[in-house]
Amino acid sequence: MYGPSGGAKRATSPKVTVPEIRARKGGPPLAMVTAYDFTMARLLDEGGADILLVGDSLGMVVQGHSTTLPVTLDEICYHGRAVARGAQRAHIVGDMPFMSFQVSPSQALENAGRLMKEGSFESVKLEGGEDVAEHVRRIVHAGIPVMGHVGLTPQSVHAMGGFKVQGKSEEQADRLLADARALEEAGAYAIVLEAIPPDLAEDVTALVTVPTIGIGAGPSCDGQVLVCYDLLGMFRELKPKFAKRFAELGDQIVEATRAYVGEVQGRTFPAPEHTFKPSGLPRRRSEPPPEIVDEESIPPHWQTH
Ligand code: KIV
Repeated sequence: MYGPSGGAKRATSPKVTVPEIRARKGGPPLAMVTAYDFTMARLLDEGGADILLVGDSLGMVVQGHSTTLPVTLDEICYHGRAVARGAQRAHIVGDMPFMSFQVSPSQALENAGRLMKEGSFESVKLEGGEDVAEHVRRIVHAGIPVMGHVGLTPQSVHAMGGFKVQGKSEEQADRLLADARALEEAGAYAIVLEAIPPDLAEDVTALVTVPTIGIGAGPSCDGQVLVCYDLLGMFRELKPKFAKRFAELGDQIVEATRAYVGEVQGRTFPAPEHTFKPSGLPRRRSEPPPEIVDEESIPPHWQTH
């Protein structure tokens, strides 16, 4: 009864491509959002998102871990296939999870290839700057587009001492600029800037010729990205300053569930309009239990003592 063909048919729009994303540098801002499943991907795509990221944030918002570290490549691939089936126009990016690329450029290339083959992705994203520039170069040379990610890089949460704003000291800011430049030189087609001061994000955006996509990096980036559960107000445990909620679906889900539970308990759901036509066949009711005349007549398996 359920299937991809269900729901209203949409006019087909051409896919957003990597060259188009690159060409948006300094142009109309890119709107990127995370997605983890078919239904959400289809809705976000219909809403006009340019890029859908199957982020390793799924470890926190889907799986309930306190960091992104436990997420595996197989899990990113699994969610990628579902998202790809739902996205008609948006470009699909797969996050390279912790320890799927850090070991060596060869490991990075092999696993980027797996994301493309097994996860139906159109490009990959990885965290890091100068330290992963060679990894990015190798992947790009194989024909796989790479999105970089600098600033707050959640896979380094323990090294950073928590999810903290980065680039606040002059030394950190200089390193971040060098990281962004290294990613661009290695061939990255766009760079995510996470949780950095807005003036530094503006400097990075002016420095590199590829689009910057900010999350907690102020308004000067060439695009913005949000975790879909934050955007929709569904992940209520954590509310980072930058995560504007454009809806409060979390509250609506709780309210809807309460209404459902109430109607089930009150036998007002399902109503006739939710019920199929009676079959008209002879009724197949079981015999009513024998009338209890006295203790002796209760069948042994019904007796409690
Ligand atoms: O994993 C993720 O969702 C991300 C975005 C926040 C950029 O990396």
